Amino acid sequence: MSTRTNPNIVVTGTPGTGKTTHCELLAERIPSLRHVSVNQIVKDKECHEGWDDEFQSWIVDEDKLLDELEKEVADGGCILDWHACDLFPQRWIDLVVVLRTDSTTLYDRLTARNYPEAKLQENLDTEIMEVLLQEAKDSYDEEIVVELRSDETEEMDANVERIEAWVKQWKEDHRGNAPAQN
Ligand SMILES: Nc1ncnc2c1ncn2[C@@H]1O[C@H](COP(=O)(O)OP(=O)(O)OP(=O)(O)O)[C@@H](O)[C@H]1O
Ligand SMILES: [Mg+2]
Repeated sequence: MSTRTNPNIVVTGTPGTGKTTHCELLAERIPSLRHVSVNQIVKDKECHEGWDDEFQSWIVDEDKLLDELEKEVADGGCILDWHACDLFPQRWIDLVVVLRTDSTTLYDRLTARNYPEAKLQENLDTEIMEVLLQEAKDSYDEEIVVELRSDETEEMDANVERIEAWVKQWKEDHRGNAPAQN
């Protein structure tokens, strides 16, 4: 049973779907939540076994990463920003947001980043095959997994509002977790 007074939220999705943009907006709007860039922790705390040139990404040392993250999530209030979600233990997480983007839009966003062709295609396939959505559903109770569209700015604003409302409700429902007042 969780004794957190703030929820932990995962924002996941294929690269380019808008995780970081959403997390930054959320952290701005909700002072009790902070943006935890898992990529940044992997880099800063060296939770990796080197750089994979082919995939242009770190080879993550999952045990080390989990040890680092455990300190972050213990008191709640984290918005975990990562392109995967099956690593985080169920008991840590209260909501999993899976961002989805239309493949034409995603193609344009990733092209703008000058991704190598192989990486671009791999990411488009991942999005089309709903890999992250399936991973989220396989790793957590379906009731805590929400799929949100992230094609346009208006959708992003609506998503942020929706998550903000969810957080408010979560806090209402978990008021009993607050330390006793005297
Ligand atoms: N809903 C949206 N409407 C308009 N633009 C968006 C939306 N979501 C993301 N973008 C734009 O797409 C680009 C990629 O977004 P962002 O960097 O947040 O993605 P990401 O999921 O964090 O990617 P990565 O996994 O590579 O870190 C940014 O230029 C961002 O402004
Ligand atoms: Mg990002």
